[in-house]
Amino acid sequence: MGTTLLTNAGGLFIQGEHLNQALRGQDISSNCTLLDPSFVLIKDGLIKDYGAIGHAPDRADEIIDLHGKFILPGFVDSHTHTVFAGSREKEMVARSLGKSYQEIAQEGGGILNSAAKLRNMSEDELYDAAVIRIQRILAKGTTTLEIKSGYGLSYEAELKMLRVIKRLKENLPINIYASLLAAHALPKEFADNRAAYISMITDRLIPEVAYQGLADFVDVFCEKIAFSAAETEQILEAGQRHGLVGKIHSNQFTSIGGIEAAIKHRALSVDHLEHLPQHDIDLLGQSDLVATLLPQAAFFLSDPMPPARKLIDAGATIALATDFNPGSSPGYSMPFIMTLACAKMGLTPIEALAAMTINAAASLNQAGQFGSITRGKRADLIITKSMPSLAYMAYAFSEEHIDQVYAAGERIH
Ligand code: NIG
Ligand code: FE
Repeated sequence: MGTTLLTNAGGLFIQGEHLNQALRGQDISSNCTLLDPSFVLIKDGLIKDYGAIGHAPDRADEIIDLHGKFILPGFVDSHTHTVFAGSREKEMVARSLGKSYQEIAQEGGGILNSAAKLRNMSEDELYDAAVIRIQRILAKGTTTLEIKSGYGLSYEAELKMLRVIKRLKENLPINIYASLLAAHALPKEFADNRAAYISMITDRLIPEVAYQGLADFVDVFCEKIAFSAAETEQILEAGQRHGLVGKIHSNQFTSIGGIEAAIKHRALSVDHLEHLPQHDIDLLGQSDLVATLLPQAAFFLSDPMPPARKLIDAGATIALATDFNPGSSPGYSMPFIMTLACAKMGLTPIEALAAMTINAAASLNQAGQFGSITRGKRADLIITKSMPSLAYMAYAFSEEHIDQVYAAGERIH
């Protein structure tokens, strides 16, 4: 592979030299800026150099004139449920008619509905459907995608989902990370025996998943309608013993101790956070956990937006992700997440973009590898269409902003 020079960029999103960790609280505003006019030099799949146009090299094997388009780090969508059996728009209509997400779940709809459908699908069918989704996802600028299991809800079906994710990892050009989310909902067969389901996860599934290398992380839906803080701790603890770091769903509807459990078991992130009392905000301000906010789930279920501004003021590390799934968040556009972050959570476009890139990479333990335009990092880059400013990307939310996408220096869109 030779060198590729992307030159005459109208804006280049930079987040500070040698950046290899998340940006906490106000550090985003003090470190991130847009440089113009500028260049990026790619060599062997990595960012070799970048800077103001005056410092651009004279020659490269390939030179691409961007005529003022922007260069941004590829989006890191650190929380999705991209492998699923089918859509659930009937539940949206049921909510329009007055049912809540929790009521639908308790009546056996929701996640259990997805699980019932998934058990009847073959690995090939699940794989083919996910490939089509991921092709659309990468066209929106996402170069790293976390995907959870959690619609299997049995030993066999959870392994089946993770094998599908493994195939996606092997065959698609973007970075894919897998999380074991067997503790997503209690399956009906275990309604009278919660402990048996938990021990199936801790004693059989986690060891097997770790042995086969099928997941990078372990997840739990810590919520009144799902699993308690004590159960969450059991699962995080088993994950720790087998090298699966925790990333949990917490505080979507209630605050029941998920954040404390995550801190105690050295998890990487707590995700959702629509219902976050002050003591939880303070905990996040003091811990190394990444607070991953999922504003599209709050939007789609008409729940309160996560308190992004208060988290930044408390010094917490915030990330943003789509939570793409067929129940609570059926969309995969990271640019739309930027719109929600700016219009509904009081973030600036720069704060939103840092939360969707470097901080999201930190929530996958990969801030040293990608998530910012830094020398030596993987050349995962977005070239935007021509636009007047970064804010325009959040503002003009019906327009298509992504012109080209590079993953590890290769053009994939
Ligand atoms: O992150 N909250 C739990 N899990 C998903 C929703 C899954 C579903 O409804 O299928 C979420 O919102
Ligand atoms: Fe989720």
